[in-house]
Amino acid sequence: MAAPRSGDGALLVLRDQPRSAAAEAYRGMRTSLQLLPQDKQSSVVFTSCNQGEGKTFCSVNLAIALAAAGKRVLMVDADMRRPTLHKAFHYDAETSGLSDFLAGQTATPLVRITDVENLSVVGSGPVPPNPSELLGLPAMLQMCGCWAEEYDHVLFDAPPVSGITDPLVLARVVGRAILVVRAGQTSDRSLRRTADQLRNAGVDLLGVVLNGRRVPQGFEYGYGYVGAATGVSGR
Ligand SMILES: Nc1ncnc2c1ncn2[C@@H]1O[C@H](COP(=O)(O)OP(=O)(O)O)[C@@H](O)[C@H]1O
Ligand SMILES: [Mg+2]
Repeated sequence: MAAPRSGDGALLVLRDQPRSAAAEAYRGMRTSLQLLPQDKQSSVVFTSCNQGEGKTFCSVNLAIALAAAGKRVLMVDADMRRPTLHKAFHYDAETSGLSDFLAGQTATPLVRITDVENLSVVGSGPVPPNPSELLGLPAMLQMCGCWAEEYDHVLFDAPPVSGITDPLVLARVVGRAILVVRAGQTSDRSLRRTADQLRNAGVDLLGVVLNGRRVPQGFEYGYGYVGAATGVSGR
C-alpha cells in the first residue's frame, strides 16, 4: 500500500512553514516534552474543553516536530466520534483502525506509514456506537503498552472533555494528558473545570498549550503557543 500523503496545508505548519513562529513554537513544545522524565514523555493524550480548540492541529504538529528529530512517533486518532487525522494524512476514515480492533474484529490495529519520515498513524476506524466503552477495554491498555515499547512517542488525538467521557477514559488508560486551550475562545472557568476533571480521574496533566495566540512578526502574524508541558496555573 502506498504511504498516505500528508496534506491539509492549514494543519501541517511545521512541514509547510518551517520558519514560521508557529513552527518554532512546536519545536519549543518538543523540547518541553523531551525535558520530562522518560516515562512521562512516551504516551500522552491531547484533549481540550470544547471542539475546535486545536487538539488535532497541535498534536499533529508536535508529532511532526518529534519525527523530524529522528524519534519514532505514532499518532492515534482516538476521536471516534469526529475523526480528523485522515484529513491530514489522506486515508479513508471509515477503513480499519482503532474501533474495529477494540470491537474484536482485527487482531491488531492497522498502522499506516505516512510520508512524514518516522511518523505512523492509526486511524479511528468505523464510527462505533460505544466509544467510551471500547476505550476502557483491557485490550486498549494492552495495546498502549505495546505501542509504548515500539515507539518513542505515542500521541493520542482525543475528543474534548465537555459532555462525553471518552477522553477521560482514554486519559486514565494512558495516564497522561496535555490540555489545549484556544486564545480568545476557552474560558478560564472551562479550563479549571476540565483540568479538575482530568486530575480527579487520576490523570497526570503534563501541561496546557495556549493555541492560536497572535504573535506579531514584522508585518505578518503567525501563531504561537505558550505554556506547553509546564503545568496548569491559576487555580
Ligand atoms: N494555531 C492555529 N493556527 C491556525 N489554524 C488553526 C490553529 N489551531 C487550529 N486551527 C484550525 O482551527 C480548526 C480547528 O482546529 P482542530 O485542531 O481541528 O481542533 P480540535 O481538534 O480541537 O477540534 C482547524 O481548521 C485547524 O486547522
Ligand atoms: Mg480534532
